[in-house]
Amino acid sequence: MAFALKSVSAKSGVRAAPSSRRSAVAVRAGKYDEELIKTANTIASKGRGILAMDESNATCGKRLDSIGVENTEENRRAYRELLLTTPGLGQYISGAILFEETLYQSTKDGKTFVQVMNDQNIVPGIKVDKGLVPLVNSNGESWCMGLDGLDKRCAEYYKAGARFAKWRSVISIPAGPSIIAQRDCAYGLARYAAIAQSAGLVPIVEPEVLLDGDQDIDQALEAAQNIWAETFKYMADNKVMFEGILLKPAMITPGADCAAKAGPEKVAEYTLKMLKRRVPPAVPGIMFLSGGQSELESTLNLNAMNQSPNPWHVSFSYARALQNTVLKTWQGKPENVEASQAALIRRAQANSAAQLGQYDPSKEGKEAAEGMYEKGYVY
Ligand code: 13P
Repeated sequence: MAFALKSVSAKSGVRAAPSSRRSAVAVRAGKYDEELIKTANTIASKGRGILAMDESNATCGKRLDSIGVENTEENRRAYRELLLTTPGLGQYISGAILFEETLYQSTKDGKTFVQVMNDQNIVPGIKVDKGLVPLVNSNGESWCMGLDGLDKRCAEYYKAGARFAKWRSVISIPAGPSIIAQRDCAYGLARYAAIAQSAGLVPIVEPEVLLDGDQDIDQALEAAQNIWAETFKYMADNKVMFEGILLKPAMITPGADCAAKAGPEKVAEYTLKMLKRRVPPAVPGIMFLSGGQSELESTLNLNAMNQSPNPWHVSFSYARALQNTVLKTWQGKPENVEASQAALIRRAQANSAAQLGQYDPSKEGKEAAEGMYEKGYVY
């Protein structure tokens, strides 16, 4: 598939007449284009969403620590095996994001995790960023590393079976957001998206506007509008094919320390307003992060966003809001595996119903309402 980008005069905003010196039409056609579109649409399929389980070894260690389990490679593997081998998971989960270590691991019986996922029609994904580091000369903001050697790593991950990628950058409202932090976040995401597509991986584009701070919902809306405008500008400049990407935004909510809270209808109204203003309908799917919301809140908010048709598939790519109860149920004990998998299916099913706008919260237990917000959360 090829498509054309016509040149536009920066001054007048009017399409420039073809010049003899410079081609007026930049044609981009990558060898993976058709596959990228197919992968993106498989992930953005009706009633399904993404299980984010790509916590770095350090973050996974914190999770394991919270249930008194030691952070060893074997314990991380066992936990990920529990998640991926959940019977029936593929009915509600279309893709799972893995950390590099997990992509190359297998079940205790020697079946690769990639095979386990493919058997359930769950697309394997991979976190490709190298994490956040402080941005010098800013007010405590950060930038995301990982562009060096990214083309080679993406090619290796494709060979190992990955078909989509994730890169998480963050925007902090209380720390700025400064112009340099925004630009770096947007430009990094655009370069990553172009590189991932050239290697056959559908990029998930995630400029996470953090929940930290006392901003109200209007300030959160403004920050999200700004970062998405800039991200799409740089993605267009980098000739990213919008039909072959997925977005992972934070929902528009008041900051964690804001006194005025917002219910699902308001969150849905603001979030959809922002997305409609900024996201072309060519993009197949919006896969929200949960960002510290409780399991219940994140499902209710998603449900509210699917009460009328949207230009894109509107779904979930949750980590904490899918795994919290699972982890607590497991406690590292083999005899709890079945109950933990049942907990995962309950959350996946609830979010699947929310993707269809048909979620009924009346049967939720009280653990689903537990908040998971953590100030300065590191993924
Ligand atoms: P949470 O759903 O826990 O916010 O994590 C999603 C994620 O993958 C962040 O990049």
